[in-house]
Amino acid sequence: VRLSPAEYEAPVTPPSVRRAIVTAFAQIVRTQNLMGGAGFDSAIARRRLFMLDEAWTFVNHGAFGAALAPAFNVAHAWRTFAESQPLRFFDRVLLPHMVHSVRRAAEFVGADARDLVLLPNATMGLNIVMQSMTLRPGDHVFMLDTAYGAAKSIAQHVCARTGAHLDMVPVPLPLAQDPAKASASLVQLVERHMHPDTALAVFDHCTSNTALSMPVNDLARAAKSKTSGATEVLVDGAHGLLAHHDLRLSASDMPDVDFYVANCHKWLCSPKAVALLWAPRRKPAPVVLSHGADHGFLSQHVWDGCRDHAAALSLPFLFDAWEVMDAMWGARWCGEHMHVLLRLAVAVLVDAWQPHGGGALIAPVAMHRSMALVGVPPLREDAPHTSADAKVLQDMLHDEFTVECPVKTIDGALYVRISAHIYNDVADYRALAVAVLSAVDQLRTRV
Ligand SMILES: Cc1ncc(COP(=O)(O)O)c(C=O)c1O
Repeated sequence: VRLSPAEYEAPVTPPSVRRAIVTAFAQIVRTQNLMGGAGFDSAIARRRLFMLDEAWTFVNHGAFGAALAPAFNVAHAWRTFAESQPLRFFDRVLLPHMVHSVRRAAEFVGADARDLVLLPNATMGLNIVMQSMTLRPGDHVFMLDTAYGAAKSIAQHVCARTGAHLDMVPVPLPLAQDPAKASASLVQLVERHMHPDTALAVFDHCTSNTALSMPVNDLARAAKSKTSGATEVLVDGAHGLLAHHDLRLSASDMPDVDFYVANCHKWLCSPKAVALLWAPRRKPAPVVLSHGADHGFLSQHVWDGCRDHAAALSLPFLFDAWEVMDAMWGARWCGEHMHVLLRLAVAVLVDAWQPHGGGALIAPVAMHRSMALVGVPPLREDAPHTSADAKVLQDMLHDEFTVECPVKTIDGALYVRISAHIYNDVADYRALAVAVLSAVDQLRTRV
């Protein structure tokens, strides 16, 4: 990872994997050919580039993503190669190719490769950073209550173990409809409520339950300036890659961020089990110690015992694939495409549900990138809705309408959390609109 591009020589890819990569690129080119120059066609993309079951209206990409089929095939080729001579793979091939994946990931996000490691998932990254803190009684950890549930649990455990205090500040929803005011109100939460002895502040780039795209640089700056730079800032960017198409992990792009954790299997659509941790300053130790324990950042994290590395090895192809698709359909096309589709989706749902008392938004659409919450028509007027109501509705969409869409409860009201990826089409949101109206109708008569 230390070598300059001029000095570095990429390892030779095994012939069987090389053949799979050629086939995978051909799959993308054929997909574009099938679209016949008429612009991007999501139905063709869904059939040719993803493995999603045609029967489903799938608007829950935010949960576990959905792998890009060509990348999945490349990962499979790596897996097959590994099993064809396991010792050759683990002893001789794996490590140089992991370094190659790190270098390619660094190039994709504009990072210095020495600051980047690959991990199995974002949860591991959150654990590594939070568990590496040397917190003392009297120290504070700051989070907004929109943080991911597992991140809250890790912080609670770390604070309980060290005697530090966890400050979980509620985000008042809905946010102002003016994006500048909405962002400013989030920054004010840090300015007003963050304790001067805060050792760690954790912010989401995009929140999980509420799908809010956060002004992370402004939040990080506010946190640092409150403590003259003493607070370390961790950004949970599980949804960052590709959804924030302009994501750059460099000191000039994220000057006040100390750690950024990003999942690859969500919007970037890698096969499951690869994530990034960017740590430009302090290099946190792994939570699992193994052979590389005393040998520097990359070596510490690259090996946590024997496991499947195929997803990480497929990354160079995956980054190339997105860049090829950008070249086909326009620079930064994917992130923009998802966001424009999301705006259309929100408009479709608001239109359909407003006459029935639904269609509420928790934030301006500009504060959502590829996911948004839209209010469902109420099941009843006389009592707040509960998470049990949300489960009943979500199960009904799943069981009776083959619609995969999460339902959330905020302040006694139900919302769907929709997603928009390149395989989605406005027809998905029309199907969701109709299914929800029908399900709500049935549930109202039951209540
Ligand atoms: C905001 C956020 N952080 C962290 C995670 C955890 O990701 P993983 O399960 O890949 O570790 C998720 C998963 O949905 C998430 O939405």
